[in-house]
Amino acid sequence: MTIDRRELAGFLRRSRDRVRPSDVGLAAGPRRRTAGLRREEVAQLAGMSADYYMRMEQARGPHPSPQILASPSSGSSAPDDSPRKQADLMSTPPLILLLSGSLRTGSSNESVLRTARAVAPAQVRTELYEGLAALPHFNPDDDTEPLPAPVAELRAAIGAAAAVLICTPEYAGTLPGSFKNLLDWTVGGTEICDKPVAWVNAAAAGRGLGAEATLRTVLGYTGADIVEPACVSIPVDRGTVGPDGVITDEGVRERLGTVLARLLTPR
Ligand SMILES: Cc1cc2nc3c(=O)[nH]c(=O)nc-3n(C[C@H](O)[C@H](O)[C@H](O)COP(=O)(O)O)c2cc1C
Repeated sequence: MTIDRRELAGFLRRSRDRVRPSDVGLAAGPRRRTAGLRREEVAQLAGMSADYYMRMEQARGPHPSPQILASPSSGSSAPDDSPRKQADLMSTPPLILLLSGSLRTGSSNESVLRTARAVAPAQVRTELYEGLAALPHFNPDDDTEPLPAPVAELRAAIGAAAAVLICTPEYAGTLPGSFKNLLDWTVGGTEICDKPVAWVNAAAAGRGLGAEATLRTVLGYTGADIVEPACVSIPVDRGTVGPDGVITDEGVRERLGTVLARLLTPR
């Protein structure tokens, strides 16, 4: 497995900032400068030296072994809330959920996401959400437990992701109704709150701006954390989409790689 030091470093820093001392059974203490964990604490929880951990977080260390990243033996028998399990969770490769706003077979927006999946580095996991057509029409009466199964699956998929990447067409100057419906279902859940989210506008230059504007408005209501540097326009030439739905254009592939990296970069 090839590990990109810089991306791993960013992931570790962001994870350390997000885990609260109480999450891993530590006292907050009076002299903390940040709400997250200290480097020495993470190192101790993960069973490595503070120096080794610090060098990884500063992207100047040795390539961590797959054993250290996965920690399978040490973590598998630990209870879910144990410090060891928490430390293992922090070293699980981040998952990016890919949401397409198009139901069309051969969709160019979906091809962008398939390409993002194809170019994602080995230490980033991706999942293409395929439940759009199965979602019921949003009705607040149904937004109660037990949720309709497709809605529960959508929320679980968002909840499990470290970040979300959206690629949607514009219909009649705004979002496709089916995709707006998906977003409506996220409002009643907490999964997308503070979650890093970005979109790629795959329309020709100067097009699709109504869809982008609506996305910004709706995501604002959901409490998603819009990652501005990762929201970009990458026009797709349908002639460059291969039979597997993946774009062959090297420039597009490179830009999508940058989008993924920006989406996971701590700010
Ligand atoms: C009903 C309908 C309405 C559309 N409205 C717009 C629009 O307002 N602005 C625009 O730029 N494109 C519009 N389009 C074009 C689509 O956004 C475009 O074909 C897009 O590539 C479709 O995405 P897909 O290939 O992922 O399905 C519309 C297409 C359809 C079918």
